[in-house]
Amino acid sequence: MDSIPCRVNQFYERYPYPSLAHFRGRYDPARHSDRILAHLGLTARDFGPGQRILDIGCGTGEISCSLAFHGAQVTALDLCRASLQRARETAERHGIQSISFVRADLHCLPLSTSFDHVFSLGVLHHCPDSGQAFSHVARRVRPGGLLTLGLYSVFGKLVDRLQRQLFFCLGGRDQENRIEAAARFLQGIPPSDLERTYLADKHVHPHETYVSAQTVLGWFKAADIEFVGASSSLNPAQPLLSELTWLGKRKAFYLVSGRKRETQSF
Ligand SMILES: C[S@@+](CC[C@H](N)C(=O)[O-])C[C@H]1O[C@@H](n2cnc3c(N)ncnc32)[C@H](O)[C@@H]1O
Repeated sequence: MDSIPCRVNQFYERYPYPSLAHFRGRYDPARHSDRILAHLGLTARDFGPGQRILDIGCGTGEISCSLAFHGAQVTALDLCRASLQRARETAERHGIQSISFVRADLHCLPLSTSFDHVFSLGVLHHCPDSGQAFSHVARRVRPGGLLTLGLYSVFGKLVDRLQRQLFFCLGGRDQENRIEAAARFLQGIPPSDLERTYLADKHVHPHETYVSAQTVLGWFKAADIEFVGASSSLNPAQPLLSELTWLGKRKAFYLVSGRKRETQSF
């Protein structure tokens, strides 16, 4: 395994993300994915029986379980054993049956089928080459199907990037020390377990990159995927300008969706 996926995997084995359902009981699978579907004008209820969904880099499975809650057949895939274990527990706790879990690296997906809707949220920017990872993900969308990505913005993430340097100076090489430094700096008190998970992912990740909306639209075009919507008022005609406004608003993470054309040979 390449050293970046290996380091990323070790990190998530230690800090399975987001662990929301694990640390906090108030998780509602019936609605949890609504927020990541809003830019498409959809809700979790629109994901019913007969639909095949693939969630690449599902983490602890809150979104996958929500997409499966109303009956869609979901394949939830991740490299991290600890995250998948938490995802399984969440599915069991909520009686969600139309979900299967796969441990795999997205660069060598053990799947021969394609899917109606593929999600990969917060994953590609942790891969050695996000463009190459994109092509592995996009291949799994059926012609006419949808792809939804979640990525770190180049500009929206700037303040976090500066803070990341600061926490490195304050906490040194040790991840736990840096998390403590981030908690002291940002909230003045020691973090809860859930906060620790979020601080780790946001501030001490071993490998993160930033992908401009313009780059994503270029990937879409090359893969015959038509833009259908995005979060944070992304204007596909002026992606650079949109992204510049995210700097002031600190919109570090954005969602972008596209539909694969029916007649294409990707
Ligand atoms: C920030 S978490 C996102 C979790 C989930 N998608 C969400 O949005 O709540 C990133 C996840 O991607 C997974 N991941 C990173 N690189 C991967 C790879 N090469 N193959 C499969 N999963 C990967 C990690 O294990 C981790 O669970």
